[in-house]
Amino acid sequence: MIVTIDGPAGSGKSTIAALLVERKGFAHIDTGAIYRIIGYIFHNGPTKDDIDRLKIDFKIVNSAVLLEYNGKNMEKYIRSEDIGKLASNVAKLDFVRHYVNALSRKIVNSSSNKNFVIDGRDAGEVIFPNADLKFFLVADINERAKRRAKETDGDVEKIKLQIFQRDEEDTKRDLAPLIQPKDAVVIDTTNKSIDEVYSIVNKMVDNV
Ligand code: DC
Repeated sequence: MIVTIDGPAGSGKSTIAALLVERKGFAHIDTGAIYRIIGYIFHNGPTKDDIDRLKIDFKIVNSAVLLEYNGKNMEKYIRSEDIGKLASNVAKLDFVRHYVNALSRKIVNSSSNKNFVIDGRDAGEVIFPNADLKFFLVADINERAKRRAKETDGDVEKIKLQIFQRDEEDTKRDLAPLIQPKDAVVIDTTNKSIDEVYSIVNKMVDNV
């Protein structure tokens, strides 16, 4: 089964994906992490040649999809808002989007895992248009900024401005902008606990 979760920064996508991993054994592809790794490696933006030569490796360990560059797990380098901004910049390039989409599909196709959750901005609309279930999470900007500030130990007001600008860029770009897929289930997570959101998702997953 393929489940996609799209939505703006801090709407709860990765938290819900992590619960599908933990409680239902889904494998999770965080497509934003791939853009972040590319933004981290190519601070000034990659050329098409850079991307043609780029090798981001993956392995699946206990349902977790681990991404590596030069044999190194990149997780601890990529979670800041500054890298988020670089990720959003490289995400405007068609050859980068092509690379991320192809890598995401390759991970699914080469895995013995039967169930995948993929989160991002265009996972349901572009990468896996035939997904079994598509979610689109939204939340008030103040709440999203608070969540991110807690995760990264940052300043709420500064993060609010950063994620507002990033959402604007992600929504207004020409290529695969952040939009709600027509066939997506929309969940506003602003005043809901993680368990409440998960419970909605879980029921729908069980009914597929
Ligand atoms: O989900 P995230 O905050 O880690 O994503 C970082 C950036 O990557 C986001 O601002 C835009 C880009 N992105 C994208 O364009 N398409 C995706 N499917 C996932 C992320």
